[in-house]
Amino acid sequence: MINNNWWHEIVLYQVYPKSFQDTNHDGIGDIRGIIKRLDYLKDLGVNMLWLNPIFESPQVDNGYDVSNYHTIDPNFGTMEDVEELIKEAHKRDIKIIFDFVANHTSNQHPWFKEALKGKDNPYRDYYLWADGKGENGNDLPNNWQSFFGGSVWERESVNGQYYFHLFAKEMPDLNWENPIVREEITNIALFWLEKGIDGFRVDAFIHIGKEPGYPDVSGVLEGDIAIAEEFYAHQPNVNPYMKEWADTLRKDYPDIFIVGEAASSSPELGVEYSDPEKGGCNSVITFRYFTEDWDAKDSRIPGNLQPGQLKIVDFKQVMSEWQESFADMGGPTLYWNNHDMARVVSRFGNDSEEYREQSAKMLAALMYLQKGIPIIMNGEEIAMKNLEFHSLDDFVAPETKEFIQKSRVVGYKDEEILANLAATVKDASRGAMQWDDTEYAGFSTITPWGGVNQESKYNVLEQISREDSVFNFYKQLIKIKKSTLFKDGLWKLVPTSDSLYVYKRQMEENTALVICNLTEKEQEFVLPQEFVRKSYNILLENEHIRHYDNVITLGAYGATIIHQVL
Ligand code: NOJ
Ligand code: CA
Repeated sequence: MINNNWWHEIVLYQVYPKSFQDTNHDGIGDIRGIIKRLDYLKDLGVNMLWLNPIFESPQVDNGYDVSNYHTIDPNFGTMEDVEELIKEAHKRDIKIIFDFVANHTSNQHPWFKEALKGKDNPYRDYYLWADGKGENGNDLPNNWQSFFGGSVWERESVNGQYYFHLFAKEMPDLNWENPIVREEITNIALFWLEKGIDGFRVDAFIHIGKEPGYPDVSGVLEGDIAIAEEFYAHQPNVNPYMKEWADTLRKDYPDIFIVGEAASSSPELGVEYSDPEKGGCNSVITFRYFTEDWDAKDSRIPGNLQPGQLKIVDFKQVMSEWQESFADMGGPTLYWNNHDMARVVSRFGNDSEEYREQSAKMLAALMYLQKGIPIIMNGEEIAMKNLEFHSLDDFVAPETKEFIQKSRVVGYKDEEILANLAATVKDASRGAMQWDDTEYAGFSTITPWGGVNQESKYNVLEQISREDSVFNFYKQLIKIKKSTLFKDGLWKLVPTSDSLYVYKRQMEENTALVICNLTEKEQEFVLPQEFVRKSYNILLENEHIRHYDNVITLGAYGATIIHQVL
């Protein structure tokens, strides 16, 4: 059954508020900055914004450590600013969803401060606790590793117990088994829906359940720790709790959009999380699209911080699986990058002056005209590349410390470590939005908190003024994406060599082909039989494409979108 829900029309734009636009000259992006740029976003054509967390937070993890869910972090502005943002966005037919972080809080949240007071405190059971092993409980409760390095367990001083944190030790995990916690979380969501937002991007929801008894991961050396996904991801209680939460919200707000961050989700799990009968989400964001060649990486140091080539055969296979699994659900989410990964033009495109625009356009066509919900990260539409780093001290992401130390131990030179991190680190995508070519790129009047690249060409002012810019390509692409064929049409991969990525969109007789050259070499594509000797229109293409008879020749990183004339 095809269900044509309204949210199949979403073209989502991720705003990283800290890096988007500063208006009060403190080097930190703010809500008034987003309001200021709404007309720009409207012009681009997106119809929903996802804001990374803006709630009060000690900013240990850039807002993913919330200390008060009902107040706006003063860095970003005030509640009045947010109310105005919602109103102004809606005036322009742009919806807004907020990041909802409920797997954990900040250790500065009053709940946790109370919980630390002792085992009898009513808030104790809001979090997860375990006794240590060994004499006086001095050994860790188990061998599970945190995503940010080190153990998931941190000892507290009052009772000598350990609390659980999947991310930083300043981010204790909430106990979703406790019905009062679930009620609190529901009330927080309702508070924001009453303010008028249109839904949530639910952070790390796949981790809200933990294996009871906290068993050790097997096969780990005594005294070592290891990632324990099998015990703290995709547990059987995730779906029931998410469904309970979402069902309550949807009673009063039936049209909200909930997209869950499901980093390690397979297509099968993704479908379950997005099935209203089973889970709470409308869709999910997996991190499993980008199949890098891990065999080519050095196994002695963390692989996620070493650049890797996209394995095209596997990538096609993975994208096909997600497309097929979500075919009747409006398609999966479609994205190339976010605040947790390097920028796409640097990672999978070619950010040299010669090919930067050409490859950025090709990648956009490849990803966003597939069936599903595009999620464009701010700055991607002007081909922003990775932030430039000059010293190992420039990295803030917590996992970089361990990477530097491990790399040094096995003999890497500092400049090699710098090159690896600069290409992969999440900080690379968090640089200030480039609005113009003035000092600090029009983002602020002082040094931006997270750095900025100043570039004469890849800034909004330059890009909107030039017809053949990446911005104008994105704008046209978004228009095409909103047409019925590209929204609802069937998706099918056309078999080709690894150098090309070609797919068909089809609705009865209405057919289009998206043809992309992934390489720096010229490639030929021979039209399938059904296109031969029929005329077609070119809906959009980048540079150096030749159409002759039944062969299309695509120059380096060429992309063309053709539509068969009926
Ligand atoms: C996923 C977010 O995208 C990431 O930035 C954050 O560090 C973790 N969840 C923890 O909230
Ligand atoms: Ca500011």
